[in-house]
Amino acid sequence: MTSRIEWVAESTRLLTAISAEFADTMPFAGLTIGTGIHLEPKTAALIMTLAAGGARVVSTGNLNTTQQETVDYLREHGIDVKGGPTSDPAEHDRHLRAVLAEKPDLLLDNGGDLFARYLEEPWEGLLGGTEETTSGRTRLAPFRDALGLPILVINDSPIKQFAENEHAVGQSVLESYLRITNRSTGGKHIVVFGYGSCGQGVAANFRNAYGLVTVIDTDPVKRLEACLDGFDVSDRETALRRADVVVTVTGHRDILLADDLGLLRDDVVLMNAGHFPLEIDAPALLGHGDVESVTDATEGLQTLRTRDGRRIHLATGGHMANLAGPRPLGNSIESMDLGFALQVRCLEAIARGRVSADSVVVPVPRAIDEAVASSYLELVAG
Ligand SMILES: NC(=O)c1ccc[n+]([C@@H]2O[C@H](COP(=O)([O-])OP(=O)(O)OC[C@H]3O[C@@H](n4cnc5c(N)ncnc54)[C@H](O)[C@@H]3O)[C@@H](O)[C@H]2O)c1
Repeated sequence: MTSRIEWVAESTRLLTAISAEFADTMPFAGLTIGTGIHLEPKTAALIMTLAAGGARVVSTGNLNTTQQETVDYLREHGIDVKGGPTSDPAEHDRHLRAVLAEKPDLLLDNGGDLFARYLEEPWEGLLGGTEETTSGRTRLAPFRDALGLPILVINDSPIKQFAENEHAVGQSVLESYLRITNRSTGGKHIVVFGYGSCGQGVAANFRNAYGLVTVIDTDPVKRLEACLDGFDVSDRETALRRADVVVTVTGHRDILLADDLGLLRDDVVLMNAGHFPLEIDAPALLGHGDVESVTDATEGLQTLRTRDGRRIHLATGGHMANLAGPRPLGNSIESMDLGFALQVRCLEAIARGRVSADSVVVPVPRAIDEAVASSYLELVAG
């Protein structure tokens, strides 16, 4: 049997095609690329593509998410990985600084960790780089003048918004509900909190699975959009009283609170898909005076039994359900292939001097979005 890393590598068709092209073009020949992004099978495919373009790659992971098997694989394939899995912020900081000590020519950042530390001790010759996330963009934007280098933000590409946030998150949250609970969706009342790009995908996927979906959003414009998209937009209390499944995906804290316990009906499943495990106030729910007992129902699911005999099921302790619980696979390989193709093409454009120095913390250039979209249509969807 091939390993999951090999399965992912074989399935990332855009990255495979780019690697083949790089064998001739070698855009990163003589350059060092420093990366600070999760080290798991999908990012291994990204890092190996950079190496295929001639780069010397120096990598470390993010807090909590590094997989040892991936670290071993990368080292076996010539990548200089600093450190290993850790949940200790001080140790993680040392790994990031070890990457920067190599004075890379390009940085691939996730959350602004590398660029923020670069500003503390800048060196001559950094050409620029990429930032994967919205939170990294928010962190780095105030320092545009000090950075003064081309830095392209991948999450601001429309491709990333619809391919990953809408389609892939929606699909994997539905898949996670099915995987963790082994329960049906048809005819069930599903309540989705948040109708941003992720919430739209979650709502659509549960509806496509024959669920009766209600959308709750604090923004009346979003509620109107959900209404015109054909979703129920009843008020919060009405929706919660009849919910069989509640999914929070707002990016904000305190969406489902201990005070809501009295509204929830017997056998409801509560799941979070937002980034931080603060959308469902799990500690307050678990410690609520009306909760008589808490048991592990099945892997990834806790059952709270209330004094009046209701069972409330909490998935993955309120952590992102598609990245926690039994065998979490995260978003689809194709969606990550698209996002990583954007990463590689952006780094290539910067290495070739095609991005001006005033493009500091800006979205992916339109020409790169168009080229990646055309490749996908030709290679995968064609
Ligand atoms: N699980 C994953 O794999 C995954 C992947 C990408 C992003 N995310 C996370 O999903 C979250 C949502 O991302 P997005 O891009 O859809 O965000 P977004 O900002 O586009 O949308 C969030 C929506 O939530 C609404 N909202 C805010 N407070 C609310 C409240 N109290 N009640 C109801 N609605 C409220 C907002 O009005 C907005 O429409 C973020 O935390 C993001 O990091 C998760």
